[in-house]
Amino acid sequence: MRVDRFLSNLPRFNRQQVRLLLVERRVTVDGVAVSDPHHEVREFSCVCVDDEVLQVGKPARYFMLHKPQGCVSATADPVHPTVLDLLDEPDPSELHIAGRLDFNTTGLMLITNDGQWSRRLTQPQTKLPKVYLVQTEQDITPEYAVTFAAGLYFAFEDLTTQPAELELLGPRTARLSIIEGRYHQVKRMFGHFDNKVIGLHRERMGPLVLDDALAPGEYRALTDNEIRRV
Ligand code: URA
Repeated sequence: MRVDRFLSNLPRFNRQQVRLLLVERRVTVDGVAVSDPHHEVREFSCVCVDDEVLQVGKPARYFMLHKPQGCVSATADPVHPTVLDLLDEPDPSELHIAGRLDFNTTGLMLITNDGQWSRRLTQPQTKLPKVYLVQTEQDITPEYAVTFAAGLYFAFEDLTTQPAELELLGPRTARLSIIEGRYHQVKRMFGHFDNKVIGLHRERMGPLVLDDALAPGEYRALTDNEIRRV
C-alpha cells in the first residue's frame, strides 16, 4: 500500500498531517527517508515517524527445497505428506509455494511468504524459464521440438502454450524449458504425442538452480543474492 494511505489509516494522523510528515521528511521506510506519497509500504517494511516505529515489518522468508517423490505441493492434505511438512520453520501456514509440482515430480521448489516475489517467478508475463528433465515411455522424435516451439493448443483453457525449448539428451530423455506453469503442462505436452512422462524433475526456475548439495527432502534458505535475482 502507498505510504500516505498507510499513515492516514492510523487513527493518529489525518491526511493533512500525513502530507506534512512526508514533506518534512520525517517518515522512513526501511531506514530511508521518504517524501513520495506513492512509496510502497509492505508487510515486510519497517516504518518510522521521527524515531518512533509504527510498523516493525515481519521478516520475508525464502526457501529452496528439493521436492522428493510422494509428497503433495499443497499447504495441507488429509492423506499424504505435504512439502510444508518437510520444513522445520515457525508459522508454516504463512508460507506458500511458488509453482507447484505433481505428486511424483521431483526437484526445485521455492517456498516463501512474499507474494510479489513468487508472482514474479511464476507469471508467464515475466517469461522466466522453468526447466525440467523429462523421461518418457516412448522415443522422442525431432517433431516434438518443432511442435513445442510453435506452441500447443490446450482446449480446456482455450489457449496456445508459449514457445518452449526442447533439447534431446537421449532417445527418451530431454530437457524442456517452458515459461508458463499450466496444470500438468509438461505431461500434457508429451501427451499430445501419446508419450507418457515417466520421470519429471525441475532443475531451475528463472535464475534459481536446484542446489545439488540438497538431497531429496532437504531445504535451505535462499541467499540475499538469490532473492534479489528474481
Ligand atoms: N508439468 C507437469 O506435468 N507436472 C509437473 O509437476 C510440473 C510441470
